[in-house]
This record gives sequence, C-alpha cells and structure tokens, in this order.
Amino acid sequence: MATLGNNGFIFSLFLAGYLVHAGTPYDYSATIECLKQPLDPQYGGGLIANPGFDKGIEAWKVDGHVEIETRESGGNKFIVAYNRTTPFTVSQSFHLKDGLFYAFSAWVQLSEGSDIVVATIYNSVKKTVSTVGSVIAKSGCWSMIKGGLTVDHNANAVLHFQSNNTRSELMVDSVSLKEFTKYEWQENRLKNIEKVRKRTLRVNVANKDGKKIGGAKINIQQRKLQFVIGCATPSSILMSESYQKWFVSRFTTAVFDNEMKWYYVEALQGRENYSTPDAMVKFFEDHGIDVRGHNILWGADNIQRWLKDLPPRQLLSESVRRMGSVMSRYAGKLVAWDVVNENLHHPLFEERLGKNASAIFYKIASSLDSRATMFLNEYNTLEHPGDMASIPSKYVEKLQEIKAFPGNEELVIGIGLQGHFDGHPNIPYVRAVFDLLGETKMPIWLTELNVVSCSKQAYYLEEIMREAFAHPAVKGMMIWIGWKPERCNEMCLLNYKLQNSPSGDVVDKLLAEWKTTNLRGVTDNAGAFEVKVFHGDYDVTVYNPDTGANVTKKVKVYDDKSEKLDVSISL
Ligand SMILES: *[C@@H]1O[C@H](CO)[C@@H](O)[C@H](O)[C@H]1NC(C)=O
Ligand SMILES: *[C@@H]1O[C@H](CO)[C@@H](O)[C@H](O)[C@H]1NC(C)=O
Ligand SMILES: *[C@@H]1O[C@H](CO)[C@@H](O)[C@H](O)[C@H]1NC(C)=O
Ligand SMILES: *[C@@H]1O[C@H](CO)[C@@H](O)[C@H](O)[C@H]1NC(C)=O
Ligand SMILES: *[C@@H]1O[C@H](CO)[C@@H](O)[C@H](O)[C@H]1NC(C)=O
Repeated sequence: MATLGNNGFIFSLFLAGYLVHAGTPYDYSATIECLKQPLDPQYGGGLIANPGFDKGIEAWKVDGHVEIETRESGGNKFIVAYNRTTPFTVSQSFHLKDGLFYAFSAWVQLSEGSDIVVATIYNSVKKTVSTVGSVIAKSGCWSMIKGGLTVDHNANAVLHFQSNNTRSELMVDSVSLKEFTKYEWQENRLKNIEKVRKRTLRVNVANKDGKKIGGAKINIQQRKLQFVIGCATPSSILMSESYQKWFVSRFTTAVFDNEMKWYYVEALQGRENYSTPDAMVKFFEDHGIDVRGHNILWGADNIQRWLKDLPPRQLLSESVRRMGSVMSRYAGKLVAWDVVNENLHHPLFEERLGKNASAIFYKIASSLDSRATMFLNEYNTLEHPGDMASIPSKYVEKLQEIKAFPGNEELVIGIGLQGHFDGHPNIPYVRAVFDLLGETKMPIWLTELNVVSCSKQAYYLEEIMREAFAHPAVKGMMIWIGWKPERCNEMCLLNYKLQNSPSGDVVDKLLAEWKTTNLRGVTDNAGAFEVKVFHGDYDVTVYNPDTGANVTKKVKVYDDKSEKLDVSISL
C-alpha cells in the first residue's frame, strides 16, 4: 500500500477523523406515558456522574432547603428530595464546552399530586438559568423529561431539578446529558434524511411482449415533494403577478396571514364579508396549491370586541355559527384547519364554556369537513422551553383530552407548532420536542415558521428547516411569510422590491437540495434502472433509442414500509 503515498496518508487521517467525529448516534427514543419503572439513562448518562444512583448520592448535591437520600423500589435505585421548603431539590456540576449541542433527559416522580418538574442549567459565565426540559410529573409512576441546550462559550454549569409543589417529595433517576459536535448533529440529520425522506425507485422497461429492454434512456422529473414546504401570505398574493409566479413555482401549500380569521371576515357581528379569502382560496385552487385553514376559533385578546363580551350561551351559539359559516364555505377545498387556535395559551372557550369546549369544537369540525386534518396550533412549544403554558406534556395532555372525548377517539389531530423563533434557536431542544410529540403518532407540522429580524436570521432559519426535514415525525412546514408590500417587520422571503431576502435564498437552496429532478439514466441488461429519490410525485420518461418510441408515466414515490418501489413501463 506504500504506493498510495501522501494520498493514502491523508485518506487514513480523514478516516480517523471521521471515526472520531461520527461518535454516538443520537437517541431518538422518548416516552410520553408514565411508567412503573424509569428506563436506563440515555447514553449511559453522558456527562452526568452516577446518573442512575447506583453509587448512592455520590456526585449529587443538596440544593435548597431539602434533605436527600437514595431509595430503592423493585430493584431500582433513585434519589429522593424530601422535607422540602423550596422548589429546588438536587443538583450536579459539570463543565460545558463552546459550540456543542447537549441532549438532556431524566425521569422524575412525585410522592403526591401532580406538578410540573423543571430541569434547568445554570451557566456560571453568563449567570443565566436555562430551562433544558420539563414534564408534568405524577405520583406512582415515572415521567420522562427530554430536552436540550446549546452553549456558545466554555462555562462551569449546574443542573437543577425543581418543582413548586413543595408538599411532595421529588424523585429523580436516569439522568443524562450528552454532548454532540455540530458535525455529528448534521451527520445524524443526513442519515435520517436518507432513511425517512427517500426511497429507491426501480424502473423496469420491457417491450409489449415482456422482453426486457437494456439501454433504454430514463429521465426522471420531480413534480412535487411529498414533504410539505409551504408559505404564508397576506392578500398581497392577489396584487402582483410576479409574486404569484414566485409563489406557485416554489410551494405546494399556502396559509393566509389573517384573511380567514373570524375577526377579518366578521369585524361587525352579523356582517360577514368573505370576498378576500374567497379570492385567495380560488387563486390557490386554480394553481393546484393546497391551503391550510387558519383559523376557525381563537381565544386571544385581539379577537373582536363584540365576541369577547358575549355571555357563555351566546358565545357558544356564535362559535358554532362561525364554524358552520367558514367550514361549509371551504370544506373539501382545504387540507387542514386550525380549529381552536392557541388554546393552551388562550383557553377562553374552556374558561367560559367548560373544560370540554375544545373537544366539542374538534368533534363538530371533523363532522363538517371529513377531508381536512384538524390541527392544534400553538406557540413556544419549540421556541421557548421556559414557557410552562405550552410545554410538550401540556400539549400531549390537551391532545389526549380532545381524543378521549366520546366520538373523537379515531380523530387524527395535527400537531401544529408555530415556530416563531426570537434569536438563537435551541436546536437540541427542538429535536427533543419532535421526539416527544412524535410519540403521539400524530403528524407534526411547523405552521408559522419564522425567525425574528437579526443578523443570523437566515442562518437560524436554515438550521430549523434542516432539523425539521430530518425528523421522521415532522410532515410539513409553513414558512411565515412571503411578501408584504408594506414594511416587513418580521421575516419576509421577498423584500418590498420583490427580490429574494437572505431567508428567501435559504428556502430556495433547501428546496433545490431536497429535490430529485432532471435525473438521467440508462437501463441495464435486465431492463432496470434504479435510483434513490426524495418522496414525491414524478414523471418518468423512457426512450428506446432503437425504435424511437418513448413513454412518460406518472409515478408517486411515497413514504412506505417497503424500501423499493418497482415501476414497470412497456414500450
Ligand atoms: C421529613 O420527611 C420524613 C420522610 O418523608 C417524614 O417522616 C418527616 O415527618 C418529615 N419531617 C418534616 C418536618 O416534614
Ligand atoms: C413556580 O412558581 C414561580 C413563582 O410563582 C413561577 O414563576 C413559575 O412559573 C412556577 N413554575 C411552574 C412550573 O409552574
Ligand atoms: C367586502 O370586502 C371587499 C374587500 O375588502 C370590499 O371591496 C367590499 O366592498 C366589501 N363588501 C361589502 C358589502 O362591504
Ligand atoms: C367532559 O366530557 C366527559 C366525557 O363525555 C364527561 O364525562 C365530563 O363530565 C365532561 N366534563 C364537563 C366539565 O362537562
Ligand atoms: C417522445 O414522443 C413524442 C411523441 O409521442 C415526441 O413528441 C417527443 O419528441 C419524443 N421524445 C423524445 C425524447 O424522443
């Protein structure tokens, strides 16, 4: 092998580097049920010393006014904080490194009641406390916290577990904090994309008598990506032909900024005006673009004054009238409805009409439109680990509550995660939330993805889009927003002159990267040509140079259990 010389040497260095970097694969497993026994710590605990408490309380500290000890149940050891007078319980110190991603997980239980248990990490350099994960913990069983953290400098840090319910003992077990380089993180994504977004297409060419044709030329054109990449737009879509061209040549799905909202079409009670959303729905219908219905009901503060002040009985009848009005108008034309928008943050209907209000509205909605998927749509679940109103376990609880209502058991409820990121996204936390919510087996969409205006806006957008595209539980993402003719204060993919913004360039780059198209090939002696393509709709053209005959076949290469899709074409 000496003849390899320098190249061989460099190649082995590269291999060595690769092996070091390839490191541990990310552990996608997550548990949303409360279990009799906790599972083992992920990655053997990673940075955490004595993660399963097999060595008693070694490496752990009393944190606040509590006492701690280890106990054992069914052969499993864990730590208990008891006689508590403060939310804090136990802690452990370690060192965090600049530029790494940290995946976090732990299992917790309370001795009585139910309360949110929060894991935080204190950063000694920045003197900040970050929430790395949280869960609604219960008594009698163990709940998993899954989350994460990023740091942009070296720092000593302290992990804390806290819960406000100080009457209860807090038990902790199977703690894990595992570091990943950005390279490893990206490798995991690429591996996953190969697995969850692509499939092998085998084109088998034969003549009318079934004789296989070798040397036939194949051309594969993608018409549509199966994974949904859509965009939000205001009514500006009706105003500019060049914006229309830009939109329809990129996106398969659209959602309206405000134009379908109740306050938009019925600002004054009883005076509905659908002319704008009608025109927008028609435009997208004419161009074969799917539309999400955003939204039917919304309990936020900025709803119509007349609605806010209604007594419960009228609030209910007006809400049902609204559902009938907008849904009968667009039923069958839309792919999704945000039924009760942001009901974790704005539980107006639950407060005024009772605990089952949303469950009842989802039931009515599904009976009014059986084609579209009914979505929950919430903010901060991905963006702000510290917002306790919409943490993953609150989301799961709401979803399960709606599905448990008589008649809703079989309902597919879409998990809408808005994704309005302000500044530095916590990417490992985002992945952990996908892992957890994915366990519901309901489809996850990013419904309103944008990043606040900042110097790294486009870079952060790219990171989040890559993260979402690589995750098996995510089925779509809607970018917020295309073009605003007036000043754009948030994130617009086009500037006011209708030129791509840096974020628009990122979207274009990724759309091109996630597309298999203009692909040429030649069948082998067995008459077959095989290639791995992104899930989607394709035109496959076969040309027989011997006879001059050609045939084009429409092929749907969709996500499926079987790895290979065989398509036979005869000419
Ligand atoms: C401290 O905890 C122990 C064990 O749970 C309990 O028996 C004892 O009453 C507690 N003491 C106080 C002062 O709460
Ligand atoms: C615990 O209480 C503090 C102070 O009232 C509050 O800010 C925090 O949100 C509470 N935490 C949880 C998880 O409810
Ligand atoms: C309905 O809205 C459209 C668009 O804003 C407007 O042009 C039209 O005058 C409105 N119709 C009525 C009856 O108010
Ligand atoms: C909610 O619905 C469930 C199932 O029908 C019922 O058992 C429960 O009493 C309802 N709760 C309220 C507050 O109406
Ligand atoms: C395929 O056939 C059509 C007519 O059937 C013809 O117009 C076209 O040029 C052919 N394409 C090629 C590549 O030969």
